[in-house]
Amino acid sequence: MTDNNVRRQVLYSGIQPSGRIQLGNYIGAIRNFVLLEKDYDCLFCVVDLHALTIRNLPADLRRQTMELAALYIACGLDPKQSIIYCQSHVPEHAELAWVLNCYTYMGELSRMTQFKDKSSRHKDNINAGLFTYPALMAADILLYQTDLVPVGADQKQHLEITRDIALRINGLYGDVFRVPEPYIPKTTAKIMSLTEPERKMSKSDEEDSFVAILDSPDVIRRKFKRAVTDSLADIRFDPDNQPGVSNLLSILSATSGTGIDALVDELAGRGYGVLKERTAEAVIEQLKPVQDEFARLMKDKAYLADVLKENAGRASVLAQRTLRKLYKKIGLYQP
Ligand code: TYM
Repeated sequence: MTDNNVRRQVLYSGIQPSGRIQLGNYIGAIRNFVLLEKDYDCLFCVVDLHALTIRNLPADLRRQTMELAALYIACGLDPKQSIIYCQSHVPEHAELAWVLNCYTYMGELSRMTQFKDKSSRHKDNINAGLFTYPALMAADILLYQTDLVPVGADQKQHLEITRDIALRINGLYGDVFRVPEPYIPKTTAKIMSLTEPERKMSKSDEEDSFVAILDSPDVIRRKFKRAVTDSLADIRFDPDNQPGVSNLLSILSATSGTGIDALVDELAGRGYGVLKERTAEAVIEQLKPVQDEFARLMKDKAYLADVLKENAGRASVLAQRTLRKLYKKIGLYQP
């Protein structure tokens, strides 16, 4: 972070360390973090408290937390410039979440599609944390007076409720929070499942439906080979009628850098097999340097632990500023 007098804009985003990080997380979110990093003061969070809303084995959660931190760095984010840290290391997140819960309505929370979706998929564990998840996410963002939040399309509603909560509190007590803007890429905001292309790709779905960032080249080839397409035998970008083919085109375009129209022209009449192969190879090539760097970083756990510790300290200083200001404004006595 820069210390000069001109305030640089703040960018904030987070990823849950639950399951394996998949191509949708990479194309829809992390790649944009890397593109935007140099123009903002950035915080990239491993949101481990959010991950508690579904059941994880403790050892898995610990490992996945370290892996996600390593992955952020392996993808090109700079932990000296940006604050790459773990949510539970900065207690101000949980503190602010409580306060925001008191300014968030049951009606608003019950309209969240992620809550409806997750509670229908985990009927045996519809916990209160799942319901109040958006208040914790709003706390993440508002703690740092964030200007911009790069996310995939599935997080749009959570950004809207964050803005509503911020505006509500600012309306009651004067300017407490900066009201953040979402940054949602146009074409790659929703990478779809390979086996059910009407649904978004998700790390919590069955194995063949997603490509994990750390999948080996052979596994990636196999998954694309099995990707669901259609019987039209025509390569066109038409997400409504050809969701599988359109998804492959989006992924190929995002990873090769060639525009979708140019790909459609180039691949016309060449069959779905070629499209799948081309997409698999482009993904493999894009992920190779990330995987190599990840493997190197995971051999140095002491370095990763140091990064997380130091960056939690940097985050905490900023978080305390906002929390103190808020506590004062809302009437919590501060000796
Ligand atoms: P999570 O962990 O589910 O996903 C992390 C990021 O990846 C994006 N994403 C996708 N983008 C395109 N296509 C897909 N198939 C796809 N799947 C996931 C998500 O939109 C997200 O940007 N609640 C958040 C984590 C969070 C957060 C925050 C984000 C907690 N606090 C503060 C931003 C700011 C979540 O569950 O993301």
